[in-house]
Amino acid sequence: MTQRKFTLDEKDLPTHWYNIQADLREPLPPPIHPATGQPIGPQDLAPLFPMALIEQEVSRERWIAIPEPVREAYRLWRPTPLIRALALEKALGTPARIYYKWEGVSPAGSHKPNTATAQAYYNKQEGVRRLATETGAGQWGSALALAARMFDLECKVYMVRVSYDQKPYRRILMETWGASVVPSPSPDTNAGRAALKADPNSPGSLGLAISEAVEDAASRDDTKYSLGSVLNHVLLHQTVIGQEAKKQLELAGDRADILVGCIGGGSNFSGFTFPFIADKLTGKAKELRVIAVEPMAAPSLTKGTYVYDFGDTAMTTPLLKMHTLGHGFIPAPIHAGGLRYHGMAPSVSALFEAKAIEAVAVHQNATFEAAVTFARTEGFVPAPESAHAIRVVIDEALRCRESGQARTIAFNLSGHGLFDLGAYERYLAGKLEDQEYPAEKVRQALADLPKVAV
Ligand SMILES: Cc1ncc(COP(=O)(O)O)c(C=O)c1O
Repeated sequence: MTQRKFTLDEKDLPTHWYNIQADLREPLPPPIHPATGQPIGPQDLAPLFPMALIEQEVSRERWIAIPEPVREAYRLWRPTPLIRALALEKALGTPARIYYKWEGVSPAGSHKPNTATAQAYYNKQEGVRRLATETGAGQWGSALALAARMFDLECKVYMVRVSYDQKPYRRILMETWGASVVPSPSPDTNAGRAALKADPNSPGSLGLAISEAVEDAASRDDTKYSLGSVLNHVLLHQTVIGQEAKKQLELAGDRADILVGCIGGGSNFSGFTFPFIADKLTGKAKELRVIAVEPMAAPSLTKGTYVYDFGDTAMTTPLLKMHTLGHGFIPAPIHAGGLRYHGMAPSVSALFEAKAIEAVAVHQNATFEAAVTFARTEGFVPAPESAHAIRVVIDEALRCRESGQARTIAFNLSGHGLFDLGAYERYLAGKLEDQEYPAEKVRQALADLPKVAV
């Protein structure tokens, strides 16, 4: 009998988060204040984030202890299983061994609660009463709504108007957990009111929703802002995924040759791969290949440039050195809503520059084809975001079939797609379009970037 599922006991839950900043050869370029051109200090971020998270953002400690109340929250769904994709392997006729780390078992259905719970905890500790955030397709908003409920905080979510109208079930999920959800642009903030005045039917954008949530937090003493990806502390919290996966591969008596993750702002990819990349950086796993998969429609690693840029469209955030398509980037309406972001986490960007990781961009139809193959073999219906990883896993496994090499491929299945069936319906009806972001547009957008002399 070939073992299919590798599970850990609750007592095996990691006790610390792994901080890759300790192992980077050079420190990350600092965030820059757009007005002064100087590196920002903790006080600049204090209106938005609790001090514990600001400290984690810049920490170079390798291991950071996970507070017990956060571990208790994690124990509700963690450790998550690592599953051998035996049915997929068989269908592909590949000698490769394929494993997936299944993060869709959290109450919100993705990896996002790994950081949402930690952020809610630290805010509660520092006397914050209320959290404000933005959400595109709704995965992040629902994770924060859940975490706020667990730690007895109020939660206000600015949800991009098109998603609010088109995807009511994520909104209802957030409201079920007690969050207050408004379509963005909303009449509740200056940024929202200005956008509504310019266009009462504005469909909204993630950049605008970020501006509304940041304004909300900055203008109220009892409220802080919460972000679901990109920042160092967010990626840090996700490293429980990779630490568990390492132990589970050991249980399987296997060692990864290739790791794959989809990538939006970088949090699930980093959480899964950073604990393995630690071994690559220290020379213990030199041959390991690590592949980030992004959509052709938002190709920040494969087509973007490594420069300082704003984190949001409205230019309210500090400048981060990252691979970016330009903060004015307007993504095509692909169904992987969580991957439609112009920038990339600074640590992932630095690793890509250092050639420690690879990146591949894939089309929407090829991605859904892989998702349906996965659903018809392994059963789980993947989130459109996660399906990007599956596309590349299948391509690598088919390459193994050609070469006869029995590689071990592991990937992060970051979430389920049970609220994304509208997208599946369109794919099955042959109505999905492929969207590619033209190189010419990247060049134009980059002309508008802020000039930073660092
Ligand atoms: C299921 C799922 N996977 C991946 C992502 C991409 O984000 P990140 O790159 O931060 O993991 C999202 C974002 O919403 C998501 O919902």
